[in-house]
Amino acid sequence: MIFMKVVTSVKEMQEFSALMKSKRKSIGFVPTMGFLHEGHASLIRKSVQENDSTVASIFVNPLQFAPNEDFNSYPRDFERDKKICLKEKVDVLFYPNEKEIYPNGAEKAEFREVSKFTAILEGKTRPVHFRGVTTVVSKLFDIVMPNKAYFGKKDFQQAKIIDLLAKEFNYNVEIIKCPIVREKDGLALSSRNVYLNENERKQAPILFQSLLLGKKLIEEGEKNPGKVIQRIKEKINSMNSAEIDYVEILDLNSFEKSKEINSSVLILLAVYFGKTRLIDNLGVLF
Ligand code: PAJ
Repeated sequence: MIFMKVVTSVKEMQEFSALMKSKRKSIGFVPTMGFLHEGHASLIRKSVQENDSTVASIFVNPLQFAPNEDFNSYPRDFERDKKICLKEKVDVLFYPNEKEIYPNGAEKAEFREVSKFTAILEGKTRPVHFRGVTTVVSKLFDIVMPNKAYFGKKDFQQAKIIDLLAKEFNYNVEIIKCPIVREKDGLALSSRNVYLNENERKQAPILFQSLLLGKKLIEEGEKNPGKVIQRIKEKINSMNSAEIDYVEILDLNSFEKSKEINSSVLILLAVYFGKTRLIDNLGVLF
């Protein structure tokens, strides 16, 4: 029988990690907010392949949600998540409550943050978001002490910021960025897709289609990012449920807005379908 331990206390998690370290066994770590799907599973699978042990965490982190966001309604289904983790051969499922992670309460938490890349794109619309993400991920790194940690390119900006966090705070952890897993129609898997009504769900694949259009225009020689962005926006706006938050083209290395497209870029977008905010991105490599 395959054995998976569910750990709810920080102390017990630390003891597991210390034991693994003492045996010189590597720890792969997949932090999540639960309601797991194939995207999360792909990260877990990679970790299981590459490490002696895999820890997955489920913690819906209040600190990364603004008061007007969906913390309370964020989808949760621990029993289902547990089955997925067991199937994917997770060794420890870390499932702490709020008090374990924020002993003085989330409202009184001390922040751990980085300033670079946190105020643009997602950070512009969601000003407290990345401060919450870096605070919790840093705490989780301290507790789990992973050798490698796995993040999806679906949240490309987040992965980039975690890279900075790990370097800045001297974490001895390799940040592994994994490809975006999509539905057959191109919609990037997300726990938030369950919020979409039937009509919104039908229209949502326009995001990937418009990213592909952008890629095609660039590959055909368009160098003006403004023109590419315009065409993408027109395509998205052809859907009556869609309301664009942003469409940007950034240089893949500097992560700054491209003035002229001469090297690899990333097209990123955030679009509301009703109340649901979806994000996606696609790289165009030179
Ligand atoms: P969550 O949204 O649950 O995502 C957990 C991890 O799964 C993230 O690294 C995310 O990029 C990855 N992921 C989500 N959808 C994916 C997809 N379709 N393909 C590939 N990977 C995908 O991101 C968070 O949680 C939180 O911010 C967290 C890092 C756990 C901190 O609270």
